[in-house]
Amino acid sequence: MKQYEVKTFSIPKVDGISEKAMEIHLGLYAGYVKNLNAHYTALRSLCEKGPGDPTVLSAVTRRIGFELAGVLNHECFFSALENGPSACTEGSPLHAQVIKQFGSFDGFVNGVKKTAEVMRGIGWVLVVHDKEKETLHIVWVSDHELGNVNLPVVLAVDMWEHAYLLDYVPAEKGSYVDAYLQAVNWKTVEDTFVAR
Ligand SMILES: [Fe+2]
Repeated sequence: MKQYEVKTFSIPKVDGISEKAMEIHLGLYAGYVKNLNAHYTALRSLCEKGPGDPTVLSAVTRRIGFELAGVLNHECFFSALENGPSACTEGSPLHAQVIKQFGSFDGFVNGVKKTAEVMRGIGWVLVVHDKEKETLHIVWVSDHELGNVNLPVVLAVDMWEHAYLLDYVPAEKGSYVDAYLQAVNWKTVEDTFVAR
C-alpha cells in the first residue's frame, strides 16, 4: 500500500487567524497522516498474522476511519486557503448551483456560518455535493467522520477547538468562521465542485 504523505500548502497570512494557530494546526494535520500510516501498518500486520483478538482489529479499523477522514478534511480545509482569497465567479457551475438552491451566495455562506455556530462538540461543517441529484448539502459531522453522508466534500470548515482557541474564546467561534470563509479562495472550491 502506498503511504500517505503530508502535503504542503501555499497559504498567505489569514486575517483573523494567527500564524501561530495556523502553524500548530498544520502540525496536527501532519500528525493525522502519521497516525493513519501507523494504523495501516498495524492492520497489515494483523491481517498477515490472522486477526487474533477481534477487539484489537476493530480498534485499528475504527481508528483508520477517524484518521483518514481527519487527513482528507484537513486537506480540503487548507487547500481552500491556498494563494489567498478570491470571490466565487458569477455564472460558474458552483455559483449557479448556490443561487439555485440558496437564493444568493451570501445566503449560502451564512448557512455554513450559522451551522458552525449552532453545532456542539468537536467536528466539521462540510459542504458536500450530490452530483447525481444536482444538490449541495451543508452537513455537521462530529469528530472527523461521524455523520458523514458519504458524498464528495467541496468545502470543509474545521470546528475542532484547536482550529480557533488560540485566537478566540469559544463564544467567539463565529468570528473564526467569518475569518476562514473570508479567506477562502472560491476559485479552488469551484474547481473542486466541478471535479467532484
Ligand atoms: Fe483541525
